[in-house]
Amino acid sequence: MNITEFTKDIYYVGVNDRTTKLFESLWSLPNGVSYNSYIIKGEKIALIDTVHVAQSLKFISQVKDIIGDAKIDYLIINHMEPDHSGAIRIIKEFYPEIKIIGNSHTQSMIKGFYNISENVMTIADGDIIDLGNNKTLKFIFTPMIHWPETMMTYETHSGSLFTGDAFGCYGALNGGIIDKEMDTDIYFNEIYRYYSNIVMKYSPMVQKALQKTEGLTINNICPTHGPVWHKHIQKVLKIYSDLCHYISEDGVVIAYGSMYGNTEELVEIIARQLSQSGIKNIKIYNMATCDMSMAISDICRYKGLIIGCPTYSNDIFPPIKTLLSAIKIRGLKNKVFASFGSYTWAPGMTKKISEYFENTNFKFINGTFEMKQAADKNDIASAIKLAQDFATIMKE
Ligand code: FEO
Repeated sequence: MNITEFTKDIYYVGVNDRTTKLFESLWSLPNGVSYNSYIIKGEKIALIDTVHVAQSLKFISQVKDIIGDAKIDYLIINHMEPDHSGAIRIIKEFYPEIKIIGNSHTQSMIKGFYNISENVMTIADGDIIDLGNNKTLKFIFTPMIHWPETMMTYETHSGSLFTGDAFGCYGALNGGIIDKEMDTDIYFNEIYRYYSNIVMKYSPMVQKALQKTEGLTINNICPTHGPVWHKHIQKVLKIYSDLCHYISEDGVVIAYGSMYGNTEELVEIIARQLSQSGIKNIKIYNMATCDMSMAISDICRYKGLIIGCPTYSNDIFPPIKTLLSAIKIRGLKNKVFASFGSYTWAPGMTKKISEYFENTNFKFINGTFEMKQAADKNDIASAIKLAQDFATIMKE
């Protein structure tokens, strides 16, 4: 049996998934993902969240490794998305008397997803359950991180905060469970990608959640994905605080489409000029071929965004249209923004692109232009001017 106790009487019983290619059938998992679940042993035993249904049997076996033939008194549901609730049914089969704890939203979702309504106990924000033996659980409602029912559970004696998706990241756990046991570089990158793709839209609710947890002494952040944070708590909190308050880092993302290389030629000119104008962090994404989750992550993370878009069927080039919808839905703020178009006979895409961001506080760069067919010297001059203006505004 592996030892997964990371603080006294609190155990990790999560699983790794290195098989699924797309999280939510949308977001790539080049480093896999973990579905985290935890056991808290007081005089009574609580299980916090479960795992994906595909790994139910492994999960049960890990739980039994920790508690033997003891019963589980409580199953705390911090989040009902099936990557965490998938093993509820099997837990019920092994532990029929288990009391399932959640809020009113949880209750209706357990009924809806799993047709379970017996032994479900509805708690209120701030309620406390004493497990005995110095283990006390306090429930903190944090709706919309990332579903309406999401809440956090705080174990008051150890200062362990079980946060659901909040502070989680992609990336399977490769041996280490708590951050001090591992090299965390990939997980920090994956926090940005997880937040940008899954949580960004709900940033105002994240702000409220951070306020709610501000006074707590936190020794361990125990999310539903990725490492348990202990050594790097302040860094993780700062990343979350910056992202949810729309504070961007220096850097420019150029996202473009190009069917025959003409738009791409301008991208290279703009990128070179940005560099010559002192912009060091430049990320370029061909939206027809790149991993969209990476582009979204960097767009959320960095201050500048330039879109290069050809006309297609008298409309925005489809991969760019998908990206624009993704950006709009996330409600981004405080970006420096420019676009340029390219067309063969039907101009007008820059206007259409701007319409996506009409009610944002994006700082638009004047000098938007549209190239007809292939770049001539005027187009090249316009591209250079756009990059120069962009770099100036970035530095303000
Ligand atoms: Fe990891 Fe919102 O589920």
